[in-house]
Amino acid sequence: MSETQLEQDFQNKIDSGEVIEPKDWMPERYRKQLIRMMSQHAHSEVVGMLPEGNWITRAPSLARKAILLAKVQDEAGHGLYIYSATETLGIDRQEMNNQLHSGKAKYSSIFNYPTLTWADMGSIGWLVDGAAIVNQTALAKCSYGPYARAMVRICKEENFHNKQGYQLLAYLMRGTKEQQEMAQESMNRWWWPSLMMFGPSDTNSPNSGELMRWKVKLHSNDNLRQRFIDRTVPQAEAIGLTIPDPNLKWNETTRHYDHSDIDWAEFQNVIAGNGPCNRDRIRARVKADSDGLWVREAAASYAKKHFPN
Ligand code: 3HC
Repeated sequence: MSETQLEQDFQNKIDSGEVIEPKDWMPERYRKQLIRMMSQHAHSEVVGMLPEGNWITRAPSLARKAILLAKVQDEAGHGLYIYSATETLGIDRQEMNNQLHSGKAKYSSIFNYPTLTWADMGSIGWLVDGAAIVNQTALAKCSYGPYARAMVRICKEENFHNKQGYQLLAYLMRGTKEQQEMAQESMNRWWWPSLMMFGPSDTNSPNSGELMRWKVKLHSNDNLRQRFIDRTVPQAEAIGLTIPDPNLKWNETTRHYDHSDIDWAEFQNVIAGNGPCNRDRIRARVKADSDGLWVREAAASYAKKHFPN
């Protein structure tokens, strides 16, 4: 069968809603796009542990420490899930790590911002994991089987992350004036970078066309961003937080919130490696990789000895 016929059959499978499995024929471009998107998603999960890990020793109570520990451990698991799903496409873990460490692979822009106060643990859970839920709920129906299935469990855990973050901020907003100011100041810092998580506007999204044709992306960047805004604004109002956007306004005609333009220069600057914490994040990941080398070597030699084939 010719390449053209193979590609047409593949597109017919996608159009009919069939799920693609690792052993199925797929266009090399489909494989490459999935490796790019999935490995960057996995990197985001693992790098995302760093800003929150920064507050585990400073949590204000044992209960809050336990919740934050559980969340950070969940993120490690999400990374491993998605790395394993990406390996089904023929790339190995170390190669993915090398791509992250060399800057060849990206991770989510959001994790290049510092966590300056305890309230940031609330903003990250509520806003960042909230944005991830909107994005990942769609990915749970994507055309690549291993990726879609990984999203099912991850979304359940993200819901816990989102609720604990919102509860943390709600608690601060019922507290002292200082606690309320800390929560609002955190919201002011995390709102716009959370909107940027969904990627550039649709008119500047070079990968969306292919990814939507192949039903890897089921909705556009702007569509998911708007869904996130529409669901989050009432939540902010319910606990007395103000969205840091003077032009935010409910539009009765479109049934969505209108908002100010996003600062895409900031976004491009951060994903180019010039965000506040980019260098620290990569330095931490490179150190973790070399610190963990002896563990990987020990596990590999044990496996070779006890499971020779
Ligand atoms: N951060 C860093 N890079 C980004 C970005 C972001 N928020 N948004 C877009 N980019 C990059 C893209 O990777 C692409 O660069 P590349 O071609 O070199 O990879 C370029 O900007 C153009 O963007 P596109 O819109 O064309 O790229 P995509 O079609 O891939 O869309 C995406 C970007 C929406 C992030 C999409 O890749 C996606 O949905 N990925 C899966 C979800 C994911 O990665 N989520 C990470 C969030 S963090 C997280 O989930 C942790 C949780 O615990 C909170």
